[in-house]
Amino acid sequence: MHKIFKNGPIEVSSEAEMVSLGHEIAATLSGGEVLGLVGDLGAGKTHLVRGILEGLGAGNPAASPTFSLVHEHNDGRLSAAHFDFYRMKSADEALGMGWDEYLSSGSVLLVEWADRFDGALMPDDTLWLVLRHVSATQRSVMLAQ
Ligand SMILES: Nc1ncnc2c1ncn2[C@@H]1O[C@H](COP(=O)(O)OP(=O)(O)O)[C@@H](O)[C@H]1O
Ligand SMILES: [Mg+2]
Repeated sequence: MHKIFKNGPIEVSSEAEMVSLGHEIAATLSGGEVLGLVGDLGAGKTHLVRGILEGLGAGNPAASPTFSLVHEHNDGRLSAAHFDFYRMKSADEALGMGWDEYLSSGSVLLVEWADRFDGALMPDDTLWLVLRHVSATQRSVMLAQ
């Protein structure tokens, strides 16, 4: 992952390029990584997550009791879970749906709006991906660590 971003922010010119970047990132994952995606609404977080999941070979999410808060993908090369903290009212709500269990599950965790709740839920070794609007069709993505 660090290799991809070694020259600084990556400019992404289309939705398709964002998904391709996700494929590249997926290829570097070995399991258990926590990726925190940060950026405004429309910055491309969901597209990047979609690319990462696609790159892992993950299909549709498995049904789970907390389906609206977390989507579990257990059919890819690595198991993954996709969260969107924007949908959660409080850090307690995340803890109540088993956040700690996800952290210790060995799944790749993909977290949109990971800076919500002051980032308090995110572990120290989180890989922070910062997405920015450059223009209507341009985004930049950088690894902040
Ligand atoms: N280069 C780009 N990469 C990703 N999305 C883009 C790009 N250019 C335009 N878009 C548009 O920006 C929006 C990104 O949406 P989404 O991935 O849901 O963002 P977020 O999850 O950060 O709110 C979509 O409407 C998409 O079509
Ligand atoms: Mg989103």
